[in-house]
Amino acid sequence: MLTFPEGFLWGAATASIQVEGASNEDGKAPSVWDTYCRTSGKIKDGSTPDPGADSYHRLGEDIRVLKELGVKAYRFSIAWPRILPAGSGAVNAKGAAYYQRLIDGLLEHGIEPWVTVYHWDLPQCLEDEGGWRNRALAPTFAEYAATLVRLYGDRVKNWIVFNEIQAFVDQGYGNGWKAPGLELPPKELMQVYHHALLAHGLACKAMRAVNPAIKIGTAEHPMPRMPVIETPENIQAASRAWDRHIGFLFEPMMHGRYPDNLDVYPAIKPGDMEAIKDRLDFMGLNMYTGAYVEATEAPPYYRTIPFPRHHFSAPTQGWLRMLPDAMYWGARFSVEKYGAPAIYFTENGLSTPHDLPPEEDRDDVTRIMFVKAYLAAMHAAIADGCPVKGYFFWSPIDSFEWISGYTCSFGLYRVDWKTMERTPRLSAKWYREVVRRNAIV
Ligand code: NOJ
Repeated sequence: MLTFPEGFLWGAATASIQVEGASNEDGKAPSVWDTYCRTSGKIKDGSTPDPGADSYHRLGEDIRVLKELGVKAYRFSIAWPRILPAGSGAVNAKGAAYYQRLIDGLLEHGIEPWVTVYHWDLPQCLEDEGGWRNRALAPTFAEYAATLVRLYGDRVKNWIVFNEIQAFVDQGYGNGWKAPGLELPPKELMQVYHHALLAHGLACKAMRAVNPAIKIGTAEHPMPRMPVIETPENIQAASRAWDRHIGFLFEPMMHGRYPDNLDVYPAIKPGDMEAIKDRLDFMGLNMYTGAYVEATEAPPYYRTIPFPRHHFSAPTQGWLRMLPDAMYWGARFSVEKYGAPAIYFTENGLSTPHDLPPEEDRDDVTRIMFVKAYLAAMHAAIADGCPVKGYFFWSPIDSFEWISGYTCSFGLYRVDWKTMERTPRLSAKWYREVVRRNAIV
């Protein structure tokens, strides 16, 4: 039995646009995802974020699911265009009231609300002004983040500013797989990153100015580069690879500088790096996959080892390659490189096809096997002294999975897309037991 430290925080996570539905209700304005789904032709099943899992109308049912799982924390995101339909200015009272009810409902049941400020649903009106290409979005974002702390900061202690900057910048502005679907060249893309980092730093400061007692962190997707054989040379090679692949986000946030081995750098105005740097109370890592590397003699001094075709990956999502050790190396590099004061795994899980025969869907031993291996590696990181304080399962319920639409399931509970009924899979019972015992067997 691998037991976790006392007080370890077991949670579950979702995001607004993936579960809420109601994209055009109670004053909510369109987000870039509403537009992208309707216009890009890139969503696998031609779907849109409506109806999602209809969580906007099923708040009570979602809280019941969390209660049944026994989780102590729920990470969800707030839809910017629901709160500020014009992107800034007046708060939409009905939209704000929804999250108020959610937060109060969670607290009533002893579940800590963890809020993500931005999980990719930028108001379309702000994209029309250039979105993250526009430097002026950074202070606008900071003001939105401060508005949320004004609204909910008395009850929400833990805040995640951005979900996966790399995903919405690289895929939203680099390869066109995510909203708004642009394909910018590397130099311009790096500028978009810089604006997002600036927004992160300004938001941290604006949020703390409203309520200095809150805790602020990230939810990045590091996809760690890991030493294939753990020699000092390979560990050093993995560390170099980390800097190029994800360090270019963490290093500015934590140390106020870009790593020195990048291919392109953004234009930086005086004061930017000081604005970006801020104390992070915790490093949040979404952990699904990564890659093995080994040391080489020539620059960049590492080789990323291609996966053999037969390597296990999620049946519906080839990118989601099973790599449990990512938990260990993600935690270890976060400590060694940035002195992370606390680490939370803010996402982890496995998708399966949504159209399986009912018994096969219910008896999801593959999900249990997959996640259990990741939890064992998380335990190894803790045993090695990394301050891992909590873990959020992605996801309590099935949801709209971006360009995969509704074709794959991450849920511990299946959602029937016709009736919206939530039904526990075997993994739900298993996870409840992990939470109850604070251990894996
Ligand atoms: C990370 C993203 O934050 C989340 O929105 C997504 O559903 C999961 N990865 C699974 O792809």
